[in-house]
Amino acid sequence: MADTPSNGAPRINGDAYPFVDHQYDVVVVGAGGAGLRATFGMAEKGLKTACISKVYPTRSHTVAAQGGISASLGNMGPDDWRWHMYDTIKGSDWLGDQDAIEYMVREAVPAIIELEHYGVPFSRTEAGKIYQRPFGGMTTEFGKGIAHRTCAAADRTGHAILHTLYQQALRHHAEFFVEYFAIDLIMDESGACVGVVAWNLDDGTIHRFHAKLVVLATGGYGRVYFSCTSAHTCTGDGNAMALRAGLPLQDMEFIQFHPTGIYGAGCLITEGVRGEGGYLTNSEGERFMERYAPSAKDLASRDVVSRSMTMEIREGRGVGEGKDHIHLHIEHLDPKVIHERLPGIAETARIFAGVDVTREPIPVLPTCHYNMGGVPTNYRGEVVTKNGDDANAVVPGLMAIGEAACVSVHGANRLGSNSLLDLVVFGRAAAIRAAEILSQNEPHRPMPKDGGQYALHRLDKLRNAKGDMPTAKLRLEMQKTMQNDCAVFRTGESLGVGVKKMREIFGMKDRVKVEDRSLIWNSDLMETLELDNLMVQAVVSIESAANREESRGAHAREDFPDRNDQTWMKHTVTWMDGEGKTRIDYRPVHLQPLTNDVQSFPPKARVY
Ligand code: SIN
Repeated sequence: MADTPSNGAPRINGDAYPFVDHQYDVVVVGAGGAGLRATFGMAEKGLKTACISKVYPTRSHTVAAQGGISASLGNMGPDDWRWHMYDTIKGSDWLGDQDAIEYMVREAVPAIIELEHYGVPFSRTEAGKIYQRPFGGMTTEFGKGIAHRTCAAADRTGHAILHTLYQQALRHHAEFFVEYFAIDLIMDESGACVGVVAWNLDDGTIHRFHAKLVVLATGGYGRVYFSCTSAHTCTGDGNAMALRAGLPLQDMEFIQFHPTGIYGAGCLITEGVRGEGGYLTNSEGERFMERYAPSAKDLASRDVVSRSMTMEIREGRGVGEGKDHIHLHIEHLDPKVIHERLPGIAETARIFAGVDVTREPIPVLPTCHYNMGGVPTNYRGEVVTKNGDDANAVVPGLMAIGEAACVSVHGANRLGSNSLLDLVVFGRAAAIRAAEILSQNEPHRPMPKDGGQYALHRLDKLRNAKGDMPTAKLRLEMQKTMQNDCAVFRTGESLGVGVKKMREIFGMKDRVKVEDRSLIWNSDLMETLELDNLMVQAVVSIESAANREESRGAHAREDFPDRNDQTWMKHTVTWMDGEGKTRIDYRPVHLQPLTNDVQSFPPKARVY
């Protein structure tokens, strides 16, 4: 069935959209760390696997991950997966699901060894072991000491991992559809996913992939914000496709601000800098983190550091002319350390801040970095949706992994270096599960008669958008609103204003103007499709945030400053209907670990 235009090309408003039909066991959408790990894992298990990516795989945003990937290898001192589990639960502010967290931290060790065997060029200790650096919130003995748990390839760990995974995918003969933009999922009447429609950006053809299993590995949606460390491609396309398919998104109010984005440019300066001994100061030259987190100091969890920096600025102790940012120092470090372990950030700071890190501090500001929320899944990667009394009903034919998913291992706040880990562990878990549930002899679920029509209508509508509002202008309105009203600190008032503004902006979607009707390299149309995706996520995020009247992890409400486990220790689950109306519900946090090898970690005060 592959690569042949199907008969009876659908016509919309006079235009023909002939499908090029394909059939695979599995179609993975996205070629970042999670997508590639799943892709070659599936191919390795004999499943006919395709991977669709809107960018060349090694340009996926995983390439930008710097500091490392966590695992309790214990190469630089004692470590234990239980300590890693405790840290992750505490980091999540007790919103993370403990069964999934246990799975992730235990699988971390074999996952890293596997990466090493695949060829990831990790930095080394004198003894030749994988080098591990401290990262925020990573401790020994349940909070007593500082763990060296983050395995690093200098400060280019994501780059090293992504290239290695791509090589593995090629080695296992997975098929790639590169520079294909996934438009929408194809669901059947029973609610199962049977495929996906994608647009080939290069030649304008439209492709319909019929699959037994579709895996969303489309990453986060950082670009709803004005200032973020995420690439321009981080538009959460899979999340939006899930919403349009009638599925909910989970915990979308939890958005991580990385403490050290370069002031003005937003580029990431890895937490590994503080792991190697870097520290923050205010305008008085004070190492203020000692006041906010007396024990962990600059290596407290990210939400804590970002809030502390914001308070310093608010109280007039920011640096620079506008007193609106903070200094990050590594001038005191041995240049050899910078050269060997932080070469990338030295270059980034020079290019984007004009700073020589061996002589002067780097100007930094908390910057949107990561989305804890996403498509709800279990620890096997299967998408779950609350269905009547069943809070964990599985959606047949659909998985989500990586930042697109909410497993939930990060809960209300992710610890640095748990993200690369999440990608490889759950990419692998999805492949294992796929092999269990798919038999190659089992037929595909039938393609519905109108399979793919919904995607075509959406594409056609935006292709012919003739309003008065350029996509970039509407996007900017959305980004500024999220930046101002759904930021590090939130209040009922700011969120109320934000919800109203976001609703107005959402209402302007129909005024968008696309200049060019071409389907060949039409970046205006592609950005409009991406904006359409971003917009629904912005609405869901800010409305979920307005609803949660407590402070937990990255969701810091000034009007509700405390965590309220009695009422709010639950996941937010939000749906959006075809008219853009949201419905919010909740599902319980899994407090029970996966096995009896460890006990549940009950909630307690979170101090660093
Ligand atoms: C960093 O190196 O600080 C980013 C990596 C991560 O977010 O885990």
